[in-house]
Amino acid sequence: MVARVIPVDPFELVVFGASGDLARRKIFPSLFRRYLAGQFPNTARIIGAARSEMDAASFQEFIKAAIDEFSPGAAQNTKQLSAFLKLLDYVAIDARGDGGWAELKAMLKGECVRAFYFSVGPGLFSDLAERLYKHQIATANCRVVIEKPFGRDLESAQNLNRGLAQYFSEDQIYRIDHYLGKETVQNLMAVRFGNLLFEPLWNAQFVDHIQITVAETVGVGGRGGYYDKSGAMRDMVQNHLMQLLCLIAMEPPSKFDPDAVRDEKLKVIRALEPVEPEDIVRGQYRAGDDGASYREEAENAQSTTESFIALKAHIANWRWNGIPFYLRTGKRLRARVSEIVVVFKEPPHSIFGVDAGRSANILTIRLQPDEGMTLQVTIKEPGPGGMRLIEVPLDMSFAEALGETGAEMPDAYERLIMDVIRGNQTLFMRGDEVEAAWAWTDPIVAGWEKRRDVPQLYHPGTNGPEDSLMLLHRDGRRWRDLEA
Ligand code: BG6
Repeated sequence: MVARVIPVDPFELVVFGASGDLARRKIFPSLFRRYLAGQFPNTARIIGAARSEMDAASFQEFIKAAIDEFSPGAAQNTKQLSAFLKLLDYVAIDARGDGGWAELKAMLKGECVRAFYFSVGPGLFSDLAERLYKHQIATANCRVVIEKPFGRDLESAQNLNRGLAQYFSEDQIYRIDHYLGKETVQNLMAVRFGNLLFEPLWNAQFVDHIQITVAETVGVGGRGGYYDKSGAMRDMVQNHLMQLLCLIAMEPPSKFDPDAVRDEKLKVIRALEPVEPEDIVRGQYRAGDDGASYREEAENAQSTTESFIALKAHIANWRWNGIPFYLRTGKRLRARVSEIVVVFKEPPHSIFGVDAGRSANILTIRLQPDEGMTLQVTIKEPGPGGMRLIEVPLDMSFAEALGETGAEMPDAYERLIMDVIRGNQTLFMRGDEVEAAWAWTDPIVAGWEKRRDVPQLYHPGTNGPEDSLMLLHRDGRRWRDLEA
């Protein structure tokens, strides 16, 4: 199956923070892959902007090295790579002063889509916005792209939103949560709303509980400074897991349109109940044979920041009344796996008698790696031994089902950057969504800070702290095993 490529309109894209990590790892390699796919023409202009002095040729060399490193397969197309590099220009800019802005203005000429990617810390968002406006570089329908963290609590998120709103309207602001750009995350909507099979069962009457897991094997590594002020709750739950929860729990939007989808997600976030202290488990990894402890990596011997969190959430609405959503995420765990598990209730009555065994259907949606879906169904155990029931998986690997294109899932940033150019905000977070997510998160964090809770230590390469298992055992349930 060959992926369809719909070309985008000509554009001018300015990437602030162009020498930073995200630009090297994701933004420029993704742009190149889209160029390679034929999604945009040679009339596109991409301008890197950062503090250091550099000419266009050195910047092109710098980006070539990044593409060689982070997208080696694509980089083999040397002819197209040189053509792509020719689209790049560079300007040294002073985000808090006036240096470089006149030069930037002179570089932008076209009457085309104009987008500004703020690949910088949130502390600079307002400064950049103000200068784009002051130097009349921002046009009426230009777009700005920003990255998390969108604040660290409700107040700071409101300040950020207010700062941007002085210069840009909400439909010009593209807040990236890269989970929404993942092909398989978008598939959640296709599976739910493109099939008749699941939706009638998707409610408190038939679902026993839902598990959402985003487990990583890596530690915080060199990001300890940022992470220690944030922790798993702010770094992952408030945004990525929250988005997954929304897509799984929301009502069907009337159409696949940015505001229709985001209105439904917002309703889910606003319906989340406060979480009780006994329904939260925080953990921190110890040192292991192959790595330092969290505290060593964060260079904070006293740190009480969590590198793991599990919690039980409830959505107070008709559809989900009383149904627990168990969320967990952590670093240095047994396997890298992101998945959503929908456990259905058992049939109300077994016609085969209790000895035959009873079982429930389980739908597992694997987001990464090995994207796919498994539905556990009950069948008769083969053989003459009577009617005994066993559970078997109906398995579908997306890569197998889709052939080559399935195996080469595009990076989340490829889809998201092209959506910015297309002017489609469906996969971006709206300001009110971000604020609602913080409004739910803040009391949870404030609660453990007030109680001075200390995270439980866990061994790297495990399922996280013991208490996380207890969170489900207590309810007569168990987590799905963390398997790569
Ligand atoms: C980021 C977090 O947003 O997502 C990181 O800040 C985390 O801590 C990362 O490792 C996980 O993303 P992915 O795409 O590797 O699952």
